[in-house]
Amino acid sequence: MKITIVAGARPNFIKIAPLIHEIIRVKETGADISYRLVHTGQHYNHNLSDIFFKELEIPEPHANLEVGSGTQAEQTAGIMIGFEKELLQHPCDLVVVVGDVNSTMACSIVAKKLNIKVAHVEAGIRSFDLAMPEEINRMVTDAITDYFFTTSAVANQNLLKAGTNEHNIFFVGNIMIDTLRKNESRFKRPQFFDAHGLQEGNYIVMTLHRPSNVDDPVHLKNLLDAIVESIHDYHLVFPIHPRTQKTLDKINFKSDRLILIEPLSYLEFNYMVKNCKAVITDSGGIQEETTVLGIPCITMRSNTERPETVTVGSNVLIGNNIELLRQQLAHVFDGSWKKSSLPELWDGATAPRIVQQFLQLEKSGRL
Ligand code: UD1
Repeated sequence: MKITIVAGARPNFIKIAPLIHEIIRVKETGADISYRLVHTGQHYNHNLSDIFFKELEIPEPHANLEVGSGTQAEQTAGIMIGFEKELLQHPCDLVVVVGDVNSTMACSIVAKKLNIKVAHVEAGIRSFDLAMPEEINRMVTDAITDYFFTTSAVANQNLLKAGTNEHNIFFVGNIMIDTLRKNESRFKRPQFFDAHGLQEGNYIVMTLHRPSNVDDPVHLKNLLDAIVESIHDYHLVFPIHPRTQKTLDKINFKSDRLILIEPLSYLEFNYMVKNCKAVITDSGGIQEETTVLGIPCITMRSNTERPETVTVGSNVLIGNNIELLRQQLAHVFDGSWKKSSLPELWDGATAPRIVQQFLQLEKSGRL
């Protein structure tokens, strides 16, 4: 069985690592399975791409489409043109896409139009917010996916409500947690940690990159003012995504509480999260990682496609409501953060379940 795996942006790399390692492992035991990794080049910076391959020991991609940045349409179209050529030159039995980035949607469309079966890992999650490009990517991808690998019971329900055949849905758990568990003992204290006088528990980590939070300079400045005012004498460690940096360059924001840094590698970022007081974010995956690490997570969005991080986990949603932010930070500081636990099957063993299912699909003639 020949599988083509697609990865384009930072969160994809974290999801494909355990999948590729497991494919290599079962191939070595004699299973008829091989993979080809296609990097679309959506993320191309060293610290958004290369460092993830190195740290997570992901083998070199077999192809890089080098699509780079652009508008939503330019990027999506560039990936589609490149991936169509790639698939025509290197036919396969199954295309595997992960997550919800532009590469996920673009490549699933191309594969389907070439009549190749598509598997979507992290299928079925929904924010129901069509202002997010990721929600459109999820909906389009799942509209044409053949096999749905899901992280949660809610994702299964979303797919069933949309009319998906239940025999094509496989509840396998959360593959990001495979990567987290495997690497937890390797998390790396970044160099700036001591230089800034940081200690375990005396800082907050923040990541913001959603267009709704970071594209408007006035809004970004108000947000930063409010956060810095609310965190007492704690430090705010803010690894900056390139999109956010562009807006920050336009505003004059200074505070001795703020530690602005380049985007961190996986091992360094998760060291920072594991040892912090709380996280403020608008990312999807970080809501999941904080739930597993038991760290309070304040999400600056009014919805989430990962509701179990709120109902079961350590996450709260506050939209961009500054008063709610103050209230939630007060809970962090007075020790009254809610108790949380782990969602079902977020156990670090998702990749083997997925690969077993691939082999089963092949065996039963469904590929
Ligand atoms: C993408 C994903 C988002 C994911 C995020 C993780 C989509 C629609 N969004 O958003 O779901 O959470 O990645 O980081 O796919 N840039 C660089 N270097 C790079 C890549 C991007 O400087 O290696 C800059 C470019 O100026 C670009 C901007 O960042 O215009 C945005 O990049 P893009 O890939 O379009 O979206 P992200 O915001 O990174």
